[in-house]
Amino acid sequence: MLAKINHGNALIVGASQGIGLGFVRALLQKDNFNHIFATYRNQSTAGELLTLQKQYGDRLECLQVDVTDESQIVAGVKQIQEFVKQLHLVIYCVGVLHEDNLAPEKSLRQIKPENLIYSFQVNSIGAVLLAKHLMPLFKKSERSIFASISAKVGSIGDNHLGGWYGYRASKAALNMFIKTTAIEYSRRCPKTIVVALHPGTTDTRLSKPFQKNVPPGKLFPVEHTVNLLLKVIADLEMKDSGEFFAWDGSQLPW
Ligand SMILES: NC(=O)c1ccc[n+]([C@@H]2O[C@H](COP(=O)([O-])OP(=O)(O)OC[C@H]3O[C@@H](n4cnc5c(N)ncnc54)[C@H](OP(=O)(O)O)[C@@H]3O)[C@@H](O)[C@H]2O)c1
Repeated sequence: MLAKINHGNALIVGASQGIGLGFVRALLQKDNFNHIFATYRNQSTAGELLTLQKQYGDRLECLQVDVTDESQIVAGVKQIQEFVKQLHLVIYCVGVLHEDNLAPEKSLRQIKPENLIYSFQVNSIGAVLLAKHLMPLFKKSERSIFASISAKVGSIGDNHLGGWYGYRASKAALNMFIKTTAIEYSRRCPKTIVVALHPGTTDTRLSKPFQKNVPPGKLFPVEHTVNLLLKVIADLEMKDSGEFFAWDGSQLPW
C-alpha cells in the first residue's frame, strides 16, 4: 500500500483525535514515510498524539495549528520547511459538526449566521488556506497527493434528506475549493493529485451523537476507515485530480 511513495514526507492536519489520529498511527507503521508532520489545535485533546511523538520522535513532528487563524497555518508550514523541501502526502482531517454552542440545524428556524461562518472557517476555508501556503512544498517533480476529508452529505447531487445546513454547505464549499485548487495545481504543481474523500460513518467524537441511527455494520472503526482511505489514495492517478471519492473507491457526484 502506498507503494508508489518511497521515502516520502506526510502531513496530517487535525491529528489530535478521530480519523486524523488514525492516519498518523497507520503511517507510523509504514516504512515509506521518513517524516510525518501532524497538527493539533488543543493540547487538552492531543494527549495520544503527543505520546506518539515521544515514542517516535525521530519521525513524528507535532505542530500546533488552529486552522481558523491563517498566521498559525503560515507558521506551521514554515516549521515544516525547516525539515523538508517536499511533501508527498497531505490529508486535511479537520472538521466540525457539533460543539458546545453548535448543533446541526434540522430546520431553517435554527440557522444562526455565526454558526454558519464558523462551520465554513473550519470545514472549508482552512483547507484552501492550506492549499495556498503548501504550494512551495508541492511544486516539485515527485508525485504527491493533497486529500481533504469531506463528507457525502456535502454532495449537492446526493442531497435527498435536507437538514444539517451549515455542515452540508461548508462541505459543498470545501468540495468546490478542492475542484478549483486541482485546476490551479494542474498548472503550478502538475505532479500533485488533489481530491476530496468521504470516509463513511466512522466511530469518532464527530459522529457520536448520531450513531444510534446508523445501521448495524455501517459504523466503521477508525482503523478500518483509515485503511480503506489509504487504499483509495494509493490507487489515485493524475486523471483523478479534482474528483470526489468514497471510502470504497467509488466516485461521488458533486
Ligand atoms: N466520523 C464520521 O462519521 C465522518 C463522516 C463523514 C465525514 N467526516 C469528516 O472526517 C473528518 C475527521 O472527522 P472525525 O470524525 O475524525 O472527527 P473528530 O474526531 O471530531 O476530529 C476532528 C478533528 O478536527 C480538529 N479541529 C476542529 N476544529 C479545528 C480547528 N479550528 N483547527 C484545527 N483543528 C481543528 C479537531 O481538533 P480538536 O481535538 O482540537 O477538537 C480534531 O482533531 C472531518 O472533516 C469530518 O467532517 C467524518
